[in-house]
Amino acid sequence: MKYVRQEITPEELSRQAELMERVAELNSSLDAPPLALVDTYGCQQNEADSEKLRGMLKKMGYAMTKSEAEADVIVINTCAVREHAEQRVLGNVGALTHTKRAKPSQIICLCGCMMQEPGMAERIKSSYPHVRMVFGPHVLWRFPEYLLRLLTGGKRVFATEESDGVIAEGLPSERDSSVKAWLPIMYGCNNFCSYCIVPYVRGRERSRAPEDVLREARELIRAGYKDITLLGQNVNSYGKDLENGIDFSDLIEQINDIPGDFLIRFMTSHPKDAGEKLFSTMARCEKCARHIHLPFQSGSNRVLEAMNRRYTRESYLGLVDLARKYMPDVVLTSDVIVGFPGETEEEFEDTLSLVREVRFDALFTFIFSPRVGTPASKMPDPYTREEKQRRFDRLVEAQNAISEEKHRSYIGKTLRVLADGEDGDMLTGRTSGGRLVRFAGSRELLGRFCDVEITSSNTWALGGALR
Ligand code: SAM
Ligand code: SF4
Ligand code: F3S
Repeated sequence: MKYVRQEITPEELSRQAELMERVAELNSSLDAPPLALVDTYGCQQNEADSEKLRGMLKKMGYAMTKSEAEADVIVINTCAVREHAEQRVLGNVGALTHTKRAKPSQIICLCGCMMQEPGMAERIKSSYPHVRMVFGPHVLWRFPEYLLRLLTGGKRVFATEESDGVIAEGLPSERDSSVKAWLPIMYGCNNFCSYCIVPYVRGRERSRAPEDVLREARELIRAGYKDITLLGQNVNSYGKDLENGIDFSDLIEQINDIPGDFLIRFMTSHPKDAGEKLFSTMARCEKCARHIHLPFQSGSNRVLEAMNRRYTRESYLGLVDLARKYMPDVVLTSDVIVGFPGETEEEFEDTLSLVREVRFDALFTFIFSPRVGTPASKMPDPYTREEKQRRFDRLVEAQNAISEEKHRSYIGKTLRVLADGEDGDMLTGRTSGGRLVRFAGSRELLGRFCDVEITSSNTWALGGALR
């Protein structure tokens, strides 16, 4: 059945806003504002969701804390993409029995992608009785309702019904940074790569209306944000579910037209949908960062097909050439999976040779993790964990040498860097290509673009001096 794009109605959202006020009233009778902690696992989409949870908590009268022992409400926003992330979550949730024992009124909540996995809510219900609330990403906007229910003596909440997903506009957001902002432009994924759980837990692709994205972008720029990352599992699919014919490149162009000095970034691009229009738009739009994250996952055509990626090694290499034709200085980063079921030594060598041929600036490398319910989890997998680890180490070593060489080539150049953080007594910032730079400077430069001459480098970062 075709997915029908569903926006939460203004009436439903204003009901949640009223419930937030009710919680705020309850909290205002306390001697001091109660404390809340939101802990985030996973990708930037989850970071953006956590900022919304913090926004709602703040509206409900909570102050933020970093202390699990002190928190009155703890929300753990989980990720299901690899087993390791799940084990960390379950370990940490288990450890919270101690804080709950010391502070019985503490409300522990679990949300995010992992909660949407079949059987997970049941497992939490029976094995983690100190967890009071479990909800999936599709009902994040109903958090005030669930919290009020618990605060007024209601039973444990389990809200993880299956859904294709919705769009909820206008939720408050408490952003982590005052310089860099996440701006989700679409949710969900329709690609069903055979190893990936995201389409099962995040629902179908749905685009926010361009008016809503542009309004939020304008607000961010007015508020002084200088680095805006457009988020989606595959941003190149933006607009396919809308009636107005807009696509991702058009959206970049419209954001680029907003007056102000800022950078537009985006992630992630699926190679099957990236192409000439995207690269020519990036090249033309002066505010668009010179960086593209283009996950290739494998350099072997057989593996790519088994992954259901819908492109080939050759078409991927063609795309890289095209991107570099339009933007010779573009920074290219990528994701890759080692040890996909049945990946042979030869097929792994294809991945290694692709990495050497493309010479990415940086690479996010993962060992295949079987996810229940995905086709790849049922494929025969004769290679041992040790074998996969050996390949992984070789790949990381090859990439580190390339990253180091690429970084060294920046020495002597002066780059425009957005100062966005501090590391000890140094400032840190990012170049247009997303490279991390450390340099000496006063705190007043935070949030400003600075010209920095690069004087040193290593595999992961650059060092420089203000010009
Ligand atoms: N939508 C993005 C895309 O298609 O490029 C990425 C989404 S995923 C959150 C980030 C990365 O995790 C993927 O690019 C892939 O390399 C990796 N990944 C996803 N599922 C995995 C699995 N089952 N085992 C290991 N790595 C996985
Ligand atoms: Fe997962 Fe593939 Fe969708 Fe990315 S495009 S989220 S890897 S299914
Ligand atoms: Fe993880 Fe969900 Fe993101 S599974 S990577 S948090 S979309």
